[in-house]
Amino acid sequence: MTAPTIDRDVVSVVQAAIEKHGNSRDAMIPVLTEINRVFGYVSREAIHEVRKQLHDPARQVHIAESQLYALTSFYDMLSTKPRGRHVIKFCENAPCHVVGGKAVWDGLREMLSLENGETTADNKWTLVTTSCLGLCSVGPVVLIDDDMYGNVTPEQISEILGKYE
Ligand code: FES
Repeated sequence: MTAPTIDRDVVSVVQAAIEKHGNSRDAMIPVLTEINRVFGYVSREAIHEVRKQLHDPARQVHIAESQLYALTSFYDMLSTKPRGRHVIKFCENAPCHVVGGKAVWDGLREMLSLENGETTADNKWTLVTTSCLGLCSVGPVVLIDDDMYGNVTPEQISEILGKYE
């Protein structure tokens, strides 16, 4: 039986991330973040490769794939699924909610025909909710890639999305 082939890019990207951040347990988040940055998400193949490259019997380092998957699923900045070219993060916490967040969320869902966690068919947009982005005083808050938008109203959504290729 032949071993499954692994994309060489995954192998080299994982290797580079571990070389850069180290192979301790504390390095897991930076390593996964680096992989997410390169591919836009952390695939099952990448998680398998991280575990493989980190396994070090001499140092008794053993991290299960389930632990890596749990970490990737837990953090908002990481994703286990491919995402679109632009990721819209909508703050769903109460301070944003009470100043009109629900209407903005509904507007985003309607305009993009997406539900939470989904990506448009053309791979342009991924829509996700997130917890507080630290700008509660200017809610509702929407983060698109690295751009933060505050005091967003449903009427502004079209103009904001229009700024992106
Ligand atoms: Fe939305 Fe803090 S609750 S930014």
